[in-house]
Amino acid sequence: MGDKHGGMKSQMPRAADELLAFYVDSGVDIALGEVPADRFADRAPDAKASPATGERVARGTPAGGPAWSLEGEGPPPRLPLKGTASAADRVSPAPAPPEVAVMAARDAAKRAASLEELRAILQAFEGCALRITAKQLVFADGNPQGRVMFVGEAPGREEDLEGLPFVGRSGKLLDRMMAAIGLDRGGAYIANIIPWRPPGNRTPTPQESAICLPFIVRQIELADPDVLVCLGGPAAQALLGVKEGILRTRGRWFPYPTGSREIRAIATLHPAYLLRQPLQKRLAWRDFLAISARSKAGDHREHF
Ligand code: URA
Repeated sequence: MGDKHGGMKSQMPRAADELLAFYVDSGVDIALGEVPADRFADRAPDAKASPATGERVARGTPAGGPAWSLEGEGPPPRLPLKGTASAADRVSPAPAPPEVAVMAARDAAKRAASLEELRAILQAFEGCALRITAKQLVFADGNPQGRVMFVGEAPGREEDLEGLPFVGRSGKLLDRMMAAIGLDRGGAYIANIIPWRPPGNRTPTPQESAICLPFIVRQIELADPDVLVCLGGPAAQALLGVKEGILRTRGRWFPYPTGSREIRAIATLHPAYLLRQPLQKRLAWRDFLAISARSKAGDHREHF
């Protein structure tokens, strides 16, 4: 008996550690609620007792029903995990409704007269809830004076840790792709549509993209590159207004108004996609040759 209980006890923490490690490996790295919630119990018409366990609904659920529901009364409170940031750092008012946040983002982005101001404005902007779960803002890397600007979708785990875009595996591939046409971060500027890491690397919601869009648009205006490169479908859809998938959009030149002039923009395959589909690198190579030729061409202001 004693042995058996002792053995079970010593296995329990290990199982919990393994479960946590599994969550982290799967990209789940934030707690979504203070107490576990039984979603089936929350949704049952009469949630007095769970058919499976006979217990009442999830601990912490008020007698009158859950504090929030799946139908969208709002997200559960988010708790920072120990060691990710202090609770005080992360306390911020409930995010505004998306339309209000988009309008606030437009106003805020317009006020930036330089990239430094834009970074500071973004740092203070509270309209996008992604800032709560991200460790830090991932604004840009490289040289804003460079002729070519690359824009990806959103930072991942490594980018979130370092505060710089494209520093993980796909960033290493992007560096090699740039090097193949004689570019590096000293001669190119790199940013993302979304400057905060979505939790667990999930796809940003359309609302999050809409809220962040005015900032990247202003960032492009202020950096004023000659050539804009959208890395992957989401960046192309957000910046070029295209609806088709990236395999149809890539490799075509688009006019892109920066506010003061019209430059050329192209979409190509995202390095993360190329890591999964290495045979498609031949398509990206074609695009990069076109980018190289365009960025070296004399007159970047010609009209279409
Ligand atoms: N993928 C992106 O789109 N951006 C990054 O910064 C990293 C990975």
